[in-house]
Amino acid sequence: MKQKAIYPGTFDPFTNGHLDVLERALNIFEEVIVVIAENCQKHALFTLEERKTMTNEVICDYTGVTVEVLRKGLLADYARQVGARSIVRGVRQVKDFEYEFQMSLLNRQLYPEVTTVFLMPNVKYTYVASSIIKEVAMLGGDVSKFVHPCVLEMIHQKREEQN
Ligand code: PNS
Repeated sequence: MKQKAIYPGTFDPFTNGHLDVLERALNIFEEVIVVIAENCQKHALFTLEERKTMTNEVICDYTGVTVEVLRKGLLADYARQVGARSIVRGVRQVKDFEYEFQMSLLNRQLYPEVTTVFLMPNVKYTYVASSIIKEVAMLGGDVSKFVHPCVLEMIHQKREEQN
């Protein structure tokens, strides 16, 4: 049975690796809500609204996807509110797993009906992480292979603002 899932993350910025995971999720779920949230352990470059704008541009040709922002509160509560029983997370490397395992079990504790589904992106995205993309881009490197053109444009704007 196809169901509704949420695909949460910081998405700062949304990368081609995220898009790969989203496409895989759309093969499984009828409806996927990309939920842009803050991770209190990370300092974001883009505001939640900027991240929503860029993600909406990336997914504009896809059906079954919407983009929402979680401004405050727990992801587990959000999942319950929207009637999603699946949380999609992309796992690139074994080192991601410890954090994902902890988060998955915590979310299940908070919302017992929810299941976290781990999806692996194409191997070519194994080393593509938003944090490294941001660092390379803000230091003037070319990240055009790793992000959608509209994301690239927003990165360039941000770089100009900060210089
Ligand atoms: O892309 P990230 O930074 O790995 O995403 C982490 C995110 C945003 C999914 C996580 O920090 C989160 O769920 N934040 C919302 C608040 C919350 O529910 N925190 C407890 C998670 S167990």
